Amino acid sequence: MKLFPNLILSGTLLAVALGAPIQPAQADPARDAIIAQFKAQAGVSSFSAARGKKFFHAKHAGGKPETPSCTTCHTNDPRNFGKTRVGKVIDPMAVSRNPQRFTDPKKVAKWFRRNCKTVLGRECTAQEKGDILTYLSSI
Ligand code: HEC
Repeated sequence: MKLFPNLILSGTLLAVALGAPIQPAQADPARDAIIAQFKAQAGVSSFSAARGKKFFHAKHAGGKPETPSCTTCHTNDPRNFGKTRVGKVIDPMAVSRNPQRFTDPKKVAKWFRRNCKTVLGRECTAQEKGDILTYLSSI
């Protein structure tokens, strides 16, 4: 009986025929456009989730001593809820937990500017921002 593989195959063909998107569940055109813009700014064709992870979890110097890392507010696991310095709850950063993440270019720009200055004492580069969004979209 080879019915089972045939069913899977015909199901896939049907999905293709119906124009079902063949992409990860969390993909979002607005987020893709934001990442594409960072690629153009950085002059690169791809970003690294591993590099983004390292950056997000690292302790940085140059910013406010009480907030040395992105994890100070967003926690060591971005799939969890975070907390601001005054105790306000922050929704998870991981796209898998929060599909609205990184879909509003103005919000992304505002908070990158603000948080990078707080943590690093400077703005993040387009490369850093692209790596971070790639990381947070991958978990
Ligand atoms: C002092 C606390 C704090 C620190 C430190 C912090 N953040 Fe945030 N971050 C917030 C808050 C508050 C928000 C806005 C609330 C929300 O989006 O849920 C936010 C939102 C963001 C957003 C926008 C999310 C979206 O949905 O568009 C990005 C991007 C971001 N942070 C990245 C970073 C990165 C990268 C770092 C480290 C360089 C960092 N944050 C460090 C508190 C912080």
